[in-house]
Amino acid sequence: MAVTIKSPREIELMRKAGEILAATHEELRKALKPGMSTLDIDRLGEKIIRSYGCIPSFKNYNGYPASICVSINDEVVHGIPNRHVILKEGDIVSLDAGVIYQGYHSDAARTWAIGEVTPEAKQLMEVTKQSFFEGIKFAKPGYHLNDISTAIQSYAESFGYGVVRDLVGHGIGTHLHEDPEVPNFSRKRKGILLRPGMTLAIEPMINAGGPEVVWMDDDWTVVTEDGSLSAHYENTVLITEGEPEILTLYKGDAE
Ligand code: MF3
Ligand code: CO
Repeated sequence: MAVTIKSPREIELMRKAGEILAATHEELRKALKPGMSTLDIDRLGEKIIRSYGCIPSFKNYNGYPASICVSINDEVVHGIPNRHVILKEGDIVSLDAGVIYQGYHSDAARTWAIGEVTPEAKQLMEVTKQSFFEGIKFAKPGYHLNDISTAIQSYAESFGYGVVRDLVGHGIGTHLHEDPEVPNFSRKRKGILLRPGMTLAIEPMINAGGPEVVWMDDDWTVVTEDGSLSAHYENTVLITEGEPEILTLYKGDAE
């Protein structure tokens, strides 16, 4: 499938999808507390998304059984909500969600601390988020996709962290996953030349230890091979003539 350029009408719908998802993440952030189960998070998230008249895009996507991916500590992504898995003080929890608004998708992830976490965990979360912002310095016409990837990787690796290779970001629009792939690590090919109207889900997944990951027996949950902590930060981004527009950023940013 070719990389699509969204029309002004499509961009308007994606903006709305992004805004709703940002508000959903903000409500989830406020609700997080020790004692809550990961299934509670999923139920609340689905309720919020549907209250905006949107569809949670992850639900039943390739058989994924929930609306919100909840991944704790050494879980990298795609954790499956479970009523027996309870948040506790000191955990870091990655929430990944997607919504469909009038046929258009947005996709975003955040990693939050539950109460006080170690300085190591805090730094991992901050660097993962900042690696996204380092990457989007190159999310402009005139740059190639690999410029974004390289910037994310060099920033994260300068802290000694492992950049996950087995999962990548993606184009997004009328489908959750569109071309192109958006790796968080450098490749030999420059990748596509960025153009206004492209929409990309850029999503660094960064491990405190090595970059290797393994899949659990549930066929979804991805964990670090060495048991180290992992963080995930993702936004849906629109390439414009000038600075990129982050469609899933909460205005009045508490993140
Ligand atoms: N944000 C993730 C991605 O882009 C999650 C989707 S996987 C799902 O791949 F199955 F949970 F939907
Ligand atoms: Co994504």
